[in-house]
Amino acid sequence: MDEFDELSITNAVLDRLRGTPDPRLQEVMTSAVRHLHDFVRDVRPTFDEWISAIRFLTRVGQISDDVRQEFILLSDTLGVSMLVDAINHPPSSGVTDTTVLGPFYNEHPPERAQDSDISDGAAGEPLRVDVEIRSADSKLLPNALVDVWQSDSEGFYDAQRPELAEPRLRARFRSDKGAHVRFRTIMPTAYPIPHDGPVGDLLKLTGRHPWRPAHLHFLVAASGYETLVTHLFVRGDKYLESDAVFGVKNSLIHGFTDECDTEGTRCLKYTFKLRPV
Ligand code: BEZ
Ligand code: FE
Repeated sequence: MDEFDELSITNAVLDRLRGTPDPRLQEVMTSAVRHLHDFVRDVRPTFDEWISAIRFLTRVGQISDDVRQEFILLSDTLGVSMLVDAINHPPSSGVTDTTVLGPFYNEHPPERAQDSDISDGAAGEPLRVDVEIRSADSKLLPNALVDVWQSDSEGFYDAQRPELAEPRLRARFRSDKGAHVRFRTIMPTAYPIPHDGPVGDLLKLTGRHPWRPAHLHFLVAASGYETLVTHLFVRGDKYLESDAVFGVKNSLIHGFTDECDTEGTRCLKYTFKLRPV
């Protein structure tokens, strides 16, 4: 009977993984066990610390459901989501940068016609948006699917307002013949990510705030191109440097000035460029 010590336990677990039929699963599990054991040897937790970690992860699972995904929030706030993004979407010239999808995306937003007002009367500073969809080599892409969603003037998404009967501040458009999507809305505002659960507790315990700088979300899909998931951030927002989920990239910060409107309304003009598959 082999007995294991602080070091030999790692190889014993790795030996048991050798029969994993799926080679990628074996690779992933082998690395996970190596790093996890090294982490535990580094931290040298007491039993109380170990059980509080188990309790924390249990709470992360228990608070999660179809609409609240606390594990994604944990991944976001630990920078793992943006690390996965960096690995899979390295910066590439001529292509719009990507960022996190976030938990408020809805796969079936209401389809809206060009020039619609997606605020449906919500209070806030009016904003006109005019985006153009092109390929990396600047070809116009008409009929691209463009989903947009955003916070309201108090920093809430529609999913956080149970009093709303219909989706608000979210829509699906198709780019027109000139590859544009134009719509009216209100300025998005900075907002705290959901922080009334274990992830919020961890932020507090580590002296961090839960705020995200104001942004509009976009998901742009066109056949023959990689689907683009990104945000456009409002220049000047005080949380750009300390986004709780590390999602800000310089190329995605914009003025939201009045450059494309004669009446002084705030306006955002932007060209998205998609990577061919
Ligand atoms: C968001 O931008 O909607 C978001 C992203 C990550 C965590 C929470 C919210
Ligand atoms: Fe958001």
